[in-house]
Amino acid sequence: MGLEPVKVGLLGLGTVGGGTANVLARNAREIARRAGRGIRITRAAAREYRAEDISGIEDIQITEDAFEVVNAPEIEIVIELIGGCSPARELVLRAIENGKHVVTANKALIALHGNEIFAAAKAKGVMVAFEAAVAGGIPIIKAIREGLAANHIDWAAGIINGTGNYILTEMRDKGRAFSEALAEAQDLGYAEADPTFDVEGIDAAHKLTILASIAFGIPLQFDKTYTEGITKIEPQDVAYAGTLGYRIKHLGIARKSDRGVEMRVHPTLIPERRLIANVDGVMNAVLVKGDAVGPTLYYGAGAGSEPTASAVVADVVDVVRALTTDPDNRVPHLAFQAEELSDVPVLPIDEVETAYYLRLQVRDQPGVMAQIAGILGDAGISIEAIQQKEPLEGETDVPLVLLTRRVLERHMNRAIGQMENLDSVEGRVMRIRVEQLAG
Ligand code: HSE
Repeated sequence: MGLEPVKVGLLGLGTVGGGTANVLARNAREIARRAGRGIRITRAAAREYRAEDISGIEDIQITEDAFEVVNAPEIEIVIELIGGCSPARELVLRAIENGKHVVTANKALIALHGNEIFAAAKAKGVMVAFEAAVAGGIPIIKAIREGLAANHIDWAAGIINGTGNYILTEMRDKGRAFSEALAEAQDLGYAEADPTFDVEGIDAAHKLTILASIAFGIPLQFDKTYTEGITKIEPQDVAYAGTLGYRIKHLGIARKSDRGVEMRVHPTLIPERRLIANVDGVMNAVLVKGDAVGPTLYYGAGAGSEPTASAVVADVVDVVRALTTDPDNRVPHLAFQAEELSDVPVLPIDEVETAYYLRLQVRDQPGVMAQIAGILGDAGISIEAIQQKEPLEGETDVPLVLLTRRVLERHMNRAIGQMENLDSVEGRVMRIRVEQLAG
């Protein structure tokens, strides 16, 4: 290892930036043995930081101006950990223009501006690595992009937001209120700066957009990803799902069929016997089904300082190893060669086929069940299971819970509209999609 250490500029010294500085310092020798060269952070940009996060780094220059770092001539790799799209996009594009390689954990940036960024990087012959953008410390990008390169990927389904999974787990196990569980996830440093990104599924949609692109070789299309959050899930739905043998998980699902590609994030009932149904707390997991390998499951910490830093540093090692390689022979950003990306259509949610859990509040009177069954029957929707609870004392309405077989979403929407128009049905029908995730 006679070569000089590679000089790295770090943008952001927050939760992940601090973790990255710490991991690089603590494991410097081990990392250099793997990379073939030492790796040194020589510059960082941050408005605020904790002194202990940079205590292991000698001779570091810290500035508040991130452009100073991306313009510094000696920096070969820029690690972008400030998050958000602006000024991250401008910084990353400037770094590329300056001929620097980029490592980022920024899922929003890649999901929304990745096509532009990768085109700029290809033109300049530099690498942009983004393992930490999806599922934190789990090397899922590498697994799909390289480990499963032999396969036709049929589908991927993941718990890819730790905050949401933490909240759903606390609701189920401890009957805790939504807001209390969210506050705790924020305290633990898991939540996004704006936690609506977590609970409304936007963060998961960023990650799913990236997963779908590398699984199917399609351009990044965040605007076509259907996104639904977990804020409408009630404790009674969590409980009813349990009595039917299911768990409710906030899943990102990408599936390819003859009709097109599905990209959707929504609460989902999945059989409790599936391994992924038992992924609890802040942990993430991604299930990927390839035609040759069958179903494969990847599990680990999807958020947090050092788990995310683990993926960031692994990307830096990859970049260092590939510094001297021919740019045309590197692993393509989106797994498929850029000129081979396909324009297969993304299906609107109306055209997606799934099974459903429905919960209705109905009058406790004869004939109601027949009316509901009639609407579903006329729409060609088969009922898989049905449960009616006894009314509480003094109540005239009862909850009715149904599981249906698979049906096109637009047919289910029409049937739900008809049910909500019945005098015997109170308020809105609660609908949660159901997936078997069978191999
Ligand atoms: N807010 C994200 C989560 C952080 O909870 O999973 C990791 O992307």
